[in-house]
Amino acid sequence: MTSGESVVLDRHATVRQALEDVESFTTVGVIDCGQSAPLLPLQTSPSDHPRIRRALDTALTPQRVAALEPVLRQRARDLAAPLAARGGGDVASSVARWLPVHALVELLGLPSDDAGRLRDLHDRVLGPGAADRDGVAAAGPEIESYFSEVVAARRGQSGTDLVRALSTPEDRALALSDDEVASVCYLLLLAGIDPVATAIGAAAAHLAVAPHHQAVVDSARDLRRYVEELLRWSAPVVALPRRCVSDAEVGGVTVPAGAALECRVAAANRDPAAFEAPDDFRPGRRERHLAFGAGPHHCAGVHLARLQVALAIEELVRALPGFRPDPAHETPDPARLAAGDPVVVVAGGGRPPQVGAPTG
Ligand code: HEM
Repeated sequence: MTSGESVVLDRHATVRQALEDVESFTTVGVIDCGQSAPLLPLQTSPSDHPRIRRALDTALTPQRVAALEPVLRQRARDLAAPLAARGGGDVASSVARWLPVHALVELLGLPSDDAGRLRDLHDRVLGPGAADRDGVAAAGPEIESYFSEVVAARRGQSGTDLVRALSTPEDRALALSDDEVASVCYLLLLAGIDPVATAIGAAAAHLAVAPHHQAVVDSARDLRRYVEELLRWSAPVVALPRRCVSDAEVGGVTVPAGAALECRVAAANRDPAAFEAPDDFRPGRRERHLAFGAGPHHCAGVHLARLQVALAIEELVRALPGFRPDPAHETPDPARLAAGDPVVVVAGGGRPPQVGAPTG
């Protein structure tokens, strides 16, 4: 194998090993999203990463996320209301597309009128517009100046949003500079929208074809387990890219310095060596899935992600009890959805009782 080659990893053990070994397999310089400097904390070296990540984890706590629940529930309800009024519709364009944008707006304490602008900036970098590399290069400075202005305007002001928590934390040793906070916000815009939208779409598609699972909304524990299994089974982030820094070994194969690595999270989550009957949908599994990655770069937004998916499910079932795929549209495969793929459903005329069907 030569350094120009690309290595694909698709087993649970090897994907996990590569993601944990940040000394050998780097994220630095791997993805160009129009940014002028590395995105924090994702694109930092193993020596820099712990400081930034600790600051982010200290600010983006389960408590901060839990405090957003009422407002995000209301958002999810408002987004699902037109579906209820029409007896069905496309969950992707109504709920999944917008809930994660509103979540970011609330988390960062931004004006709600900015949701459309943020959605547009995101789409120019990661949406269909991303095929235009000049467009991506032009969007980068706009995103940077948007967040730089937000961060500068918050200096010295009191408030409970994440921006202030990052720049003026209780433990001053964890304070990030204005540029660092703006970079974290840039990353949140790119990392925190599509995976959530995909997961909500996958949930809607799965609950439509397996409506007995809709009864999970009756129990917080069942809903938590359902969301976790959905994330394993549908893996909203399909693969993670890395570059090998110095010759390294993974799964018995030597990877040369310079080689590109594709860590296939979706395949690893269906690895029969890690999960019994991996294609079956079985909430309550104990084995750890890799939908949120592994190692130091493990998703920083797990609590917010889980909350949004759970709220979307609750509000969809509430708006369209017993919903099913709309026969007038193609039924999407919940495990192969991408953000934005339509998931058109119709109300089912009442939620069926849970019947303990074990799979699918
Ligand atoms: C279902 C939804 C989500 C999924 C499946 C997901 C998945 C992932 C994965 C696989 C990674 C690892 C990336 C890598 O190692 O290259 C990651 C990192 C990250 N995610 Fe998420 N994510 C989700 C939602 C969110 C949300 C809502 C936020 C915040 C608003 C967020 C913020 C981040 C950040 C900041 C990182 C980088 C962490 C670091 O480099 O230390 N994610 N996510």
